Amino acid sequence: MVNIAVLVSGGGTNLQAILDAQARGEIKNGRVRAVISSNESAYALERARNAGVPGYVMKKRDYASGAEYCAALARFLHEKDVELVVLAGFMTVLDEGFCREFENRIINVHPSLIPSFCGDGYYGLHVHEAALRKGVKVTGATVHFVNAITDGGPIIAQKAVEVLPGDTPEVLQKRVMAQAEHVLLPHVVSLFCEGRLSVSDDGIVTISE
Ligand code: GAR
Repeated sequence: MVNIAVLVSGGGTNLQAILDAQARGEIKNGRVRAVISSNESAYALERARNAGVPGYVMKKRDYASGAEYCAALARFLHEKDVELVVLAGFMTVLDEGFCREFENRIINVHPSLIPSFCGDGYYGLHVHEAALRKGVKVTGATVHFVNAITDGGPIIAQKAVEVLPGDTPEVLQKRVMAQAEHVLLPHVVSLFCEGRLSVSDDGIVTISE
């Protein structure tokens, strides 16, 4: 069984999608052992409690620097024997050392079709605001491995979602979550735990049968 930690900062609907998939037996060979929040009032912690998963709070401002925060986070994950780190709406940037230590073991869900609307400053609702400002007719979500480049790691899976006339950022965000993020993320978590993902030297992900 692969030990999974889910890192969150907010509402936690992606965490919920993973927990629901786990309850349905759809996360093959993996188990969520810990939920770590960068914010003590995140509703995601309530979701963890309801599912009987231990929740922890680790805030960057309690540490002298970003590097100390990342080092403490890495130590904690090693103590818990975590093998897969899932960023599910985790809004704190992880440094290069952390990304290297958990290379190809950190996955993130991003609410656009990377390489559109990604990188520094593109998170949460801002992503959908930018998509609507540009007038794209199709957007979606991406699940990718995390490296030191924001939203720049190897792409694992993507799903397209239609933009409809009259969409607001909030309406579009809900559709992207329901149709893409909540479907893709638990699926990719399971693929990882089943040992079906491999990454080539040039950063291309292959999914084996
Ligand atoms: C999700 O839309 C996720 O893709 C996004 O934040 C939201 C968190 O929602 N993440 C990013 O923008 C990361 N760059 P949730 O807390 O309900 O899962």
